[in-house]
Amino acid sequence: MATPPAEPHDPPVELISDAFFVQSSIEMARGMRINRNMVVLRQDGELALLNPVRLTPEGEARLEALGEVKHLIRLGFFHGVDDAYLKDRYGATFWCQARSNVHPEPTPDRILEESVELPFRDMSLFVFHQTKKPECAMVWNRDGGLLVACDSIQHHVSTPRCSFMAKAVMRAMGFMRPANIGPPWRKFMTKKGGSLQPDFERLLGLDFDHLVGAHGTPLRGGAKAALGATVARVYG
Ligand SMILES: [Fe+2]
Repeated sequence: MATPPAEPHDPPVELISDAFFVQSSIEMARGMRINRNMVVLRQDGELALLNPVRLTPEGEARLEALGEVKHLIRLGFFHGVDDAYLKDRYGATFWCQARSNVHPEPTPDRILEESVELPFRDMSLFVFHQTKKPECAMVWNRDGGLLVACDSIQHHVSTPRCSFMAKAVMRAMGFMRPANIGPPWRKFMTKKGGSLQPDFERLLGLDFDHLVGAHGTPLRGGAKAALGATVARVYG
């Protein structure tokens, strides 16, 4: 199967206890390169990759030094370009929501749904109920809580690994705000006559203090207040 090569990326950075952030990038269209992030969670020497991203051989060595890759977890409907490669490389358990099939391969080993038993003790799953297509997020319940989203929430206060053209487009499209709700994602995912506000209000009921999305940079501390301000601005 043809899978895209790894892009240059940064080394993993530990955001909070046993939660590592890796920033890579992806070319969305010619000249439009944006950052793309993976979060690696660790329990008892086992790793779960959230928003999985293929790494370079050096990156894979660094990742494998953190632990054994046992779980691949697709949180976002639009993501998954590297999942088939990673499943093939690691033979890990692949998790995604039912019908999260923009990238139909690999087929899920486990379906991510609210009743499912998650692989690590400190994980909590959040499932959007109102979106047109499946989307979810995960909270890592350590150090005040780290909310890991995919396209739904993106913290954009800088533009690392984005091309010049992408920076201009992101500014024009309203991406550049802290703890933002991804503007094109929101437009696509909102049903006709519907609103995602109840989902975001429910999300704000979870315990988290930090957040990281599949694009943008991590927000350490004050994440719930920042997201609350976004929800008030967008839906108020
Ligand atoms: Fe995305």
